[in-house]
Amino acid sequence: MSASDRSLIIAIDGPAASGKGTLARRIAERFHLAHLDTGKLYRATGLAVLVGGGDPADPVAAENAAQNLDFSVLADARLRQEDVARASSVVAAIPGVRAALLEAQRRFAHHPPPPAKGAVLDGRDIGTVVCPDANVKLFLVASAESRAFRRARELRPDDAPAIYDAVLQDMRERDARDSERRVAPLAAAPDAITIDTTSLDADQVFEQASDLIARHIARH
Ligand code: CDP
Repeated sequence: MSASDRSLIIAIDGPAASGKGTLARRIAERFHLAHLDTGKLYRATGLAVLVGGGDPADPVAAENAAQNLDFSVLADARLRQEDVARASSVVAAIPGVRAALLEAQRRFAHHPPPPAKGAVLDGRDIGTVVCPDANVKLFLVASAESRAFRRARELRPDDAPAIYDAVLQDMRERDARDSERRVAPLAAAPDAITIDTTSLDADQVFEQASDLIARHIARH
């Protein structure tokens, strides 16, 4: 841990199902950091709009949902559904939604819940917008096919092939929306280290990332 009072901040960004969530959870455990899956904030906003019968592309409905987000919804199993994922990337392109969610993310990073002495946040714009001052920035990439395969297996462990094509198509559309939006698009920060997880398993990704973080801590 850094000798300074400032908390250690690790940013992990990347496209859908690139392994950010699994890595962030393991990094949090290994380095005693608090973890925030920022995708859940956008998923919860999308879910709230859908439950209210609104259109995720409607800025008024989406901003209202983001401003009044019920944080207990972050544990809702419906957040994992593909229709919610789709809605989340639609609301995420609306500037007012991002503005409404920004402060809570920064507060978590800079004042993580005790006893954590730092935080790991995973998302799309952590290294670029939310925490440009993060100590270590990782950007995970993987082929669309391997990401779709992983996501299909998560969603339907017994019959992943049945949904693979639909998941791949949804993922490509979501990647395009996330990368092409005007505000805080999915992008690697100039000082991020990219890890291609296509042919790595979760343990190998964790080892590479842990080494980088341990080296940072040793130097400071
Ligand atoms: O788990 P997966 O990688 O599929 O998605 P997620 O991290 O839960 O994020 C869901 C959606 O929220 C993404 O497709 C983005 O549109 C949006 N998001 C974002 O815009 N900025 C973030 N920091 C995190 C998520």
